[in-house]
Amino acid sequence: MVAFKLGSNNKLLTVLYVIFLVLIFNAYDGETSNVAYFEAFKPVGNNAKKVAIIGAGVGGASTAYYLSKAFANSSVHLQTTIYERSFHIGGRCRALEIPYGNRTYVVEVGASIFIDVNYHMTNASKEFGFKFRKPPADMRVGIWDGEQFVFEESKWYYVNVLKILWKYGLAPMRVKNMTRDKVRRFLSVYNYPSPFTDIRSLSHALGLGNEPQHTAEHYLKNLNNVYHLYLSHFVEPATRVNYGSNLDDIHALGGFISLAPEGAKGVEGGNYQVMVEFVNRSGATVKLGNAVKKVRKISDYGKTKYEVVGSDEKAEVFDAVVLAAPIQFTNIHFENIKVNHLPEIPYRTLHVTFVIGRLNWKYFKHSSYESLPEYILTTKTSTKFNSIGTSHILPDGNAIIKIFSEKELMDGDLDELFERWSWVYRKVWKAYPQLLPNQTYPPVEIEDGFYYVNSFEPLISAMETEAVSGNNIARLIHERWEKFDIKAKL
Ligand SMILES: Cc1cc2nc3c(=O)[nH]c(=O)nc-3n(C[C@H](O)[C@H](O)[C@H](O)COP(=O)(O)OP(=O)(O)OC[C@H]3O[C@@H](n4cnc5c(N)ncnc54)[C@H](O)[C@@H]3O)c2cc1C
Ligand SMILES: *[C@@H]1O[C@H](CO)[C@@H](O)[C@H](O)[C@H]1NC(C)=O
Ligand SMILES: *[C@@H]1O[C@H](CO)[C@@H](O)[C@H](O)[C@H]1NC(C)=O
Ligand SMILES: *[C@@H]1O[C@H](CO)[C@@H](O)[C@H](O)[C@H]1NC(C)=O
Ligand SMILES: *[C@@H]1O[C@H](CO)[C@@H](O)[C@H](O)[C@H]1NC(C)=O
Ligand SMILES: *[C@@H]1O[C@H](CO)[C@@H](O)[C@H](O)[C@H]1NC(C)=O
Ligand SMILES: *[C@@H]1O[C@H](CO)[C@@H](O)[C@H](O)[C@H]1NC(C)=O
Repeated sequence: MVAFKLGSNNKLLTVLYVIFLVLIFNAYDGETSNVAYFEAFKPVGNNAKKVAIIGAGVGGASTAYYLSKAFANSSVHLQTTIYERSFHIGGRCRALEIPYGNRTYVVEVGASIFIDVNYHMTNASKEFGFKFRKPPADMRVGIWDGEQFVFEESKWYYVNVLKILWKYGLAPMRVKNMTRDKVRRFLSVYNYPSPFTDIRSLSHALGLGNEPQHTAEHYLKNLNNVYHLYLSHFVEPATRVNYGSNLDDIHALGGFISLAPEGAKGVEGGNYQVMVEFVNRSGATVKLGNAVKKVRKISDYGKTKYEVVGSDEKAEVFDAVVLAAPIQFTNIHFENIKVNHLPEIPYRTLHVTFVIGRLNWKYFKHSSYESLPEYILTTKTSTKFNSIGTSHILPDGNAIIKIFSEKELMDGDLDELFERWSWVYRKVWKAYPQLLPNQTYPPVEIEDGFYYVNSFEPLISAMETEAVSGNNIARLIHERWEKFDIKAKL
């Protein structure tokens, strides 16, 4: 019945390899390749500027895209080169194709959802002609505390409303109001008058200065006892599934963001495709499978420049460098660049496990398989896993199940959790910063002309916020060079 064991892995590699080939051909194809090749050795004119972007996740890809837009009509001729260590574009956005029966199912291994008011992701997806994938409406959520379900959603909307009102009073409305207020404040980032250079000042300017200073637990502590039940039964399960954190170890802004999935959606076929389009439309040269090993600040006739060395051992000099990956995972040797002063940002390790099979209703103390909720979130007393979600229900009665956990789920764990299972795929991520309160943020511009997209991540780590940061850095670079160019002309 199950025609493969680890086959989908190979399938994924094939797909990614094809994407890789397409990109390589595009980057080195005919005329373009010659132009790129000769321009690298040509003395760069006054109006030509070279930017290196390190990393082709959403941060790096969006920077390239917004740079190309910003300089579209400029007299400054921009040449962008993207270095990407892996053989694919997307970084922490990655799709896995699972062939099963007579079709192939696509699941997100990394970032899966964004919301309507995530304007960069939403607008770009629309502009690029992608279809949205929305979570099916009839799926039920259950909250598991490690021993039993403390709450289970019914298929009937009004039953749920009554159940929630009965159990938690007005707490949900109160918390929802607070969440809306935070989201509304965040939205002013899109009309921010000038590019920002400091994340802390930005959060204050948005009216969100207070929330990152406290744990979510502390921030919400003056809500009464009924509210506490709601916090541990709903709010904490949300922070656990979104950021792998409990209320006492996540800042309040992270808590509210976890609660804001109104209009949640993703791109059909995989969110990584948005990044592929960002890169494609930016016209940048893409060096896949080329990890940056060294970045050195140099002075060229009094101007600050950067020499970048890739794993292909080639050195190239750039006018600006955009680092678009968490710095501690890049293995780059920095020379003459003040990186040891950067605050350490600890990241969460997260295990993502996909399984084909049927969950064990007896483990969950249910009376039948059919009555099990499709999404299982957890309170902090559940230790084995943080969440279990049904990605696809298969025609033969099996399902593709996605599990998040702090520790690796061994085959023995799956034997317990599943009535039967036949296939497993495991991936471990350094998923996102821990979103600790009172974090010192790294600067947006670490050195003159050396920018850091992921300085935004300790405030909120998401596809959208990385695009906000990429957009902001493109604006910073544009502001500097366009003004400089105008001055030079005068
Ligand atoms: C399991 C999981 C679920 C998530 N769920 C969501 C979600 O539902 N919604 C949401 O918005 N966000 C979610 N996130 C968070 C989101 O994925 C990240 O915030 C975002 O994708 C980070 O993008 P980035 O471009 O900054 O970094 P990355 O995506 O990590 O990109 C960095 C890139 O740099 C490359 N690189 C590193 N070092 C080098 C080097 N030396 N040279 C060249 N290249 C290098 C890497 O290979 C990588 O491709 C989730 C994350 C995970 C792991
Ligand atoms: C560049 O010019 C085009 C065509 O005139 C216009 O549509 C676009 O908005 C301009 N872009 C910028 C960044 O000024
Ligand atoms: C795929 O299989 C399902 C049942 O397993 C069947 O209902 C469906 O018609 C098949 N589709 C195609 C395109 O063969
Ligand atoms: C996104 O699209 C909306 C609606 O068209 C528009 O109002 C908004 O300015 C756009 N925002 C961004 C960041 O592109
Ligand atoms: C939520 O906010 C609205 C107006 O913004 C207000 O009318 C309502 O009373 C608030 N509800 C709760 C439960 O605080
Ligand atoms: C963060 O700093 C503020 C101001 O110094 C302080 O009031 C607050 O208690 C700190 N938060 C934590 C969790 O230590
Ligand atoms: C972008 O994609 C289009 C359509 O698939 C393709 O024709 C073009 O060559 C690509 N360009 C780059 C730079 O990758």
